Amino acid sequence: MKTINYKDLTDLERNLLNEAEKVMENAYNPYSKFFVGAAILTKDNKIITGANVENAAYGSTLCAERAAILKANAEGYRIYKKIAIIARGQDFNTEEVTGPCGSCRQMIYECSQISENDLEIIMSTTKKDKIIKSSIKELLPLAFGPKELGINIKQYQK
Ligand code: THU
Repeated sequence: MKTINYKDLTDLERNLLNEAEKVMENAYNPYSKFFVGAAILTKDNKIITGANVENAAYGSTLCAERAAILKANAEGYRIYKKIAIIARGQDFNTEEVTGPCGSCRQMIYECSQISENDLEIIMSTTKKDKIIKSSIKELLPLAFGPKELGINIKQYQK
């Protein structure tokens, strides 16, 4: 895990985070009023974004990270390099970076095994004054994935 500054990011990473920031404004969040944006960088450097979508049955809420993964899959992309996450409250900026929830970590882990890449996770405060770079293995050690079930990873790569 590494705490870095915005200027330490590569141009591509800055782009990724800025796309996540833009899409965060599309959060459907009548209950928490918390805005989250996620952006996935695919193997061919395409950026696919997602925002959180809440539900009156609160448990049916879907996080930004998983929304991005579902969109990427629907668009035909399953091999990823990185994911960026940023969030804000309705009337406050986050002072700590926003990390993926447990369910999102599990789903990102699935993607990382299919991608055959320990996906890099870039987490930012609202104002991008603190950024942490980590990886899914670091955020979810000793995780369980498709390989543990004997799934042929290559068959699902695209
Ligand atoms: N949320 C995300 O979208 N991603 C996270 O990593 C943390 C939580 C959303 C879910 C819910 O809409 C709101 O933030 C408050 O939990």
